[in-house]
Amino acid sequence: MGDKGSIWLPDAMSTFANEVDALFWFVFWTSTVLFIAVVAAKVYFMLRYKRTDETSVPEPVHESKLLEAAWIVVPTILVLFVFIWGFDVYLKMNTDPTDAYQISVMGKQWAWEFEYAEGVTAFSEMYVPVGRPVKLMMNSQDVLHSFFIPAFRVKMDVIPNRYTSLWFEATEPGEYQIFCTEYCGTTHSGMLAKVVAVSEEDFAAWIAEQSQDLPPEQLGEQLFAQCAACHAVDGSAKIGPALNGRFGTDRKLADGSTVTFDENYIRQSILDPASQVAEGYQPIMPAGYSSMSAKQIDGLVAYIKALQ
Ligand code: CUA
Repeated sequence: MGDKGSIWLPDAMSTFANEVDALFWFVFWTSTVLFIAVVAAKVYFMLRYKRTDETSVPEPVHESKLLEAAWIVVPTILVLFVFIWGFDVYLKMNTDPTDAYQISVMGKQWAWEFEYAEGVTAFSEMYVPVGRPVKLMMNSQDVLHSFFIPAFRVKMDVIPNRYTSLWFEATEPGEYQIFCTEYCGTTHSGMLAKVVAVSEEDFAAWIAEQSQDLPPEQLGEQLFAQCAACHAVDGSAKIGPALNGRFGTDRKLADGSTVTFDENYIRQSILDPASQVAEGYQPIMPAGYSSMSAKQIDGLVAYIKALQ
């Protein structure tokens, strides 16, 4: 599935994706065949038994026991067949292997945060090893979200105050889109991320690289992935104001006052977004970012300061 989307199913890229597809296509084609058969029979009977003159009286019809038995037995078998098949796939998808590699996923307005056991935190990209089961333990910081990886055929609600989980095993290296599929506010459609499936060696290398302490500006750039749904860095207005080229300039606020866009303004805007809203924008930035550490805020300040 490219950036433009498609009416076709995305390539099946997890171990059970093909089974999900097989079941889907079975239901799809069975329904198609039955639909055509029913409509064809209807049209045939309409023509065959058309009333030809005003006085004609049709012959009384008596039931056919065989026909009645057939339309009870055949659909029952069909429905049970789909149920058993579906239940089998459902169990596979809902029974995570005990040796799965676990990643914590936090949904928040409007970004995904991925935490690894090695102490690594990532935002817009979730690296996973190919050929190894991966289990996601998911939670939300604010409202209902839903985590969806179309290429893997997995989707699960992400709920505040409760863990939900899903698992998958990627079959081939590549980048796969992650969507939020539960309406969660203004920038719901911008709540995007990517799965980056890589070999075991590349995964280990990525973890090692991420574990190093980043210089503030790079840390800020990484953290900024959470802000990117609402704030552009190329001057274009999104739901929030663009943040490049602003440092050191005056900023008009919604209440008519003017402040300097400096370190303190950035810090204040992260910790208490509603306190200094830029002119022309709504006070919709979630307060959830106030849990950032001083080090993280330093990083974001350094990054935003450097944006041209
Ligand atoms: Cu999160 Cu929609």
